[in-house]
Amino acid sequence: MYASTVPMDSSKLVLLLSLLYILLFQPSLSAAQPNFNRYNCNFNNVGNYTTNSTYQRNLNSLLSSLASDTQIDYGFYNLSVGEFPDRVNAFALCRGDVAVDVCRSCVNDSTRKILEVCPNKMDVFGVYELCMIRYSNRSLFGVVDNQRLFYKASGQNVLDATLFNQALQTLFARLQAKAASGNSLKKFASGNQSTGVETVYATVQCTPDLSEGQCSSCLLVLFRMITNCCNGNVNGKIGARLTAPSCNLRWERVKFFNGTLEILAPPPQVLSPTSLPAPSQGRTWIVINPLPHFDFDVLI
Ligand SMILES: *[C@@H]1O[C@H](CO)[C@@H](O)[C@H](O)[C@H]1NC(C)=O
Ligand SMILES: *[C@@H]1O[C@H](CO)[C@@H](O)[C@H](O)[C@H]1NC(C)=O
Ligand SMILES: *[C@@H]1O[C@H](CO)[C@@H](O)[C@H](O)[C@H]1NC(C)=O
Ligand SMILES: *[C@@H]1O[C@H](CO)[C@@H](O)[C@H](O)[C@H]1NC(C)=O
Ligand SMILES: *[C@@H]1O[C@H](CO)[C@@H](O)[C@H](O)[C@H]1NC(C)=O
Ligand SMILES: *[C@@H]1O[C@H](CO)[C@@H](O)[C@H](O)[C@H]1NC(C)=O
Ligand SMILES: *[C@@H]1O[C@H](CO)[C@@H](O)[C@H](O)[C@H]1NC(C)=O
Repeated sequence: MYASTVPMDSSKLVLLLSLLYILLFQPSLSAAQPNFNRYNCNFNNVGNYTTNSTYQRNLNSLLSSLASDTQIDYGFYNLSVGEFPDRVNAFALCRGDVAVDVCRSCVNDSTRKILEVCPNKMDVFGVYELCMIRYSNRSLFGVVDNQRLFYKASGQNVLDATLFNQALQTLFARLQAKAASGNSLKKFASGNQSTGVETVYATVQCTPDLSEGQCSSCLLVLFRMITNCCNGNVNGKIGARLTAPSCNLRWERVKFFNGTLEILAPPPQVLSPTSLPAPSQGRTWIVINPLPHFDFDVLI
């Protein structure tokens, strides 16, 4: 290269060195938060807040409380700051099995990332694999929100969908009851079920502000969607996730959660797939990735 023989003037050298320094040592560059798996910046309304508004001050104070909290060790954050009409309400929820330090770090990441991807937005929903964040000017506590959701599914089909769905139904019925009967700090259940040929592993979770009945019906709505939703990209797949703000479910053919597996004594009742009612019409779907061949980012 001829360029190397050309003497560099000192101002260029200083510029180059400072760029190098910034690249190597700027903490804000090296400590960037991971991208959300999914997010939506206009979840229930299209409202914007203006820079330096009271809403923004309330939001910033709320997010910094979320990020720095060291009291909550059960994975559910429920905060509100300010007064109407500038009141901000927020939830953060970690998957029920994650360790407390993993949860705090995920929530911390989410508070920073959400402002980066949804600047000046009032009503947002962001989802990582291990936690989610939601805030709005409307009240969230005790309100079931499963009208819209994110889905993600493996592109790979199971060998025998009938057999697989029967095992899923048995498993989800059990997990739904277990999660719904959880307390006001956690409503989560994980487990596994044999299809006869292989084993399916699943988790279900509600935000624990919901009552037992609300949690149960929130999960039932998601569960009923499996067979009909998402352009057929979820039914009969080896793994999938449906994630609404109030509840979520996931299954895989490998154990993807922490914790021990349940060992059941009596064989549970198998529900007929035809007994499932049709899903309600008119839902708005947030179909972020409608591609049919779409693999999990967490599985190898
Ligand atoms: C939230 O903000 C939207 C958009 O500005 C507004 O239409 C709605 O009335 C507000 N709701 C509450 C509860 O403040
Ligand atoms: C909010 O801002 C976006 C652009 O950032 C704009 O398209 C939209 O119309 C705004 N919504 C309202 C309700 O002002
Ligand atoms: C917001 O406030 C800061 C500090 O008071 C000021 O420098 C900035 O110009 C303001 N921005 C807007 C858009 O008003
Ligand atoms: C949150 O993350 C930032 C960097 O992403 C870090 O500087 C800060 O110390 C973290 N806060 C807490 C309370 O862990
Ligand atoms: C959550 O927030 C709501 C609204 O601010 C409040 O009524 C409720 O007591 C809080 N619950 C918990 C468990 O923090
Ligand atoms: C799973 O449990 C182990 C041991 O307690 C812990 O180190 C790890 O962080 C946990 N994983 C998650 C995702 O919380
Ligand atoms: C779940 O897996 C464990 C360990 O492999 C096994 O002992 C148990 O029978 C399984 N449970 C069901 C319901 O299939």
